[in-house]
Amino acid sequence: MMSGKFFISTPIFYVNAKPHIGTALTCLYADVLARYHRQKGEEVFFLTGTDEHGAKIAQSAEKAGLEPQAFVDQSSESFRELMKSWHISNDFFIRTTDKVVHTPGVLKLWQLLADQGDIYKGSYEGLYCVGHEAFMKSSDLVDGKCPDHQTEPEKIKEENYFFKLSKYKKDLREMYEKGDIVIRPDSRRKEILNMLDDLEDISFSRPRDVVKWGIPVPGDDSQLIYVWADALTNYISALGYGRKEENMSFWPGSHMIGKDILKFHAIFWPAMLHAVGLQPPREILAHGFITVDGQKMSKTIGNVIDPTPLVEKYGLDPVRYFLLREIPSHQDGDFSYEKLEARYNGDLANNLGNLVSRVAKLIETKCGGELIYEEKLMDSRVGEQIAQARKDYEKFIEEFKLHEALASIWNLLTFANGYMDEHKPWKEEHGEHLLMTLNSVATVMAEVSKMLESFMPETSAKILKNLGAESDAKKFVITKVESLFPRLEK
Ligand code: MSP
Repeated sequence: MMSGKFFISTPIFYVNAKPHIGTALTCLYADVLARYHRQKGEEVFFLTGTDEHGAKIAQSAEKAGLEPQAFVDQSSESFRELMKSWHISNDFFIRTTDKVVHTPGVLKLWQLLADQGDIYKGSYEGLYCVGHEAFMKSSDLVDGKCPDHQTEPEKIKEENYFFKLSKYKKDLREMYEKGDIVIRPDSRRKEILNMLDDLEDISFSRPRDVVKWGIPVPGDDSQLIYVWADALTNYISALGYGRKEENMSFWPGSHMIGKDILKFHAIFWPAMLHAVGLQPPREILAHGFITVDGQKMSKTIGNVIDPTPLVEKYGLDPVRYFLLREIPSHQDGDFSYEKLEARYNGDLANNLGNLVSRVAKLIETKCGGELIYEEKLMDSRVGEQIAQARKDYEKFIEEFKLHEALASIWNLLTFANGYMDEHKPWKEEHGEHLLMTLNSVATVMAEVSKMLESFMPETSAKILKNLGAESDAKKFVITKVESLFPRLEK
């Protein structure tokens, strides 16, 4: 078993829009990994936060009639609330407008790059999409518009500082070929290798009079540091980079990101780090997008799903379960209320919930409410199923196929339900066979509780509580049996 340190981050979120289920999904993925590694005994640093500079934020603040700082103070709050209400177990929440925590790291990185001649002044003429906060090529456009934002990019001609990205082309290729950076899924690594062929230097600053809101370039107040150069640095400024508290022992880390921001994380960021002699990220996990009834979620279509009422209606763990099970971690997946309700009634109420109460009630009625685990009463066939499920579960988590990890738990539950139907403990009054059945299935439930801890922490605890068990599952003392997932009625 690996032990040691594990760093996991989410992207930091733009605060111009409210959190939606896409935001929640990124956080859930990272949360599962953080909890899983903690359970393995590793020391975990789980980082999330908000991206609060740039033209997009400045524009939104202006629309809201607020000063940018007042606007971001207000709007970043809803992201902190999301973390709380979705039981996201982040260890730190970073804000890029935090001058004490974040700015020193950005300035240090810039200064080091500038001192070694990796930053130079030049002029940029081309296209800029404010929605993406990114420079675009005309070949990226569809009918003259950014395909993601349906807006025409701005044509700009301005003085910028540039980062000599092209200089690091060969080093980046080597990192990927040697496996210094792992990208999951591997198909995305190939995408990145293809992009390396025509890598150009990138703008690293924009004029202050255009962008208005950001960190000034050291030594040149007329320019502000490009929002992505600022934002990416959060992953190390949170570790104290640039401050006297600097402690990089958690580095290199794993980044959870959406597929749309892969280039920034897999090319720009490793190059920036490598240029100043820091290790590139250990792992980049790129997930897909949630669509709603087959359509892209967008304000214009009006189908953005707000995470808060969703959780109020169905409960947190059912929603966590649904998103993590239904959306394949590596691919796009669809949200619909029908699918959520079908999973709730099928997987949660019937398969998991019923089994927990059936087992608890049988221990209550057939064993006087108390069952002591005995190795000799463990059906070896059940033991094998548990071991197989655990093996699959770990493999799928390591491969970042969280939906498959959940499927392996549910395979075990389906097996256990079938085992009960086969052995019919309710038809027996006492005896070794009855004890073996209950002992074996109760052990399955304890193991399910352990595996579910990373995905559905509250449910995991409730399973043990219903079975009156401690986490070592050596004794089951039933006191009160409560339905875990009351069926949803139409
Ligand atoms: N601020 C940048 C990230 C900087 S990281 C140094 C940013 N912010 S964002 O708020 O626009 O997006 C944050 C994350 O949410 C991205 O990983 C993006 O992929 C993810 N998602 C946005 N919409 C989504 C869905 N519909 N589905 C799943 N994830 C989605 O980009």
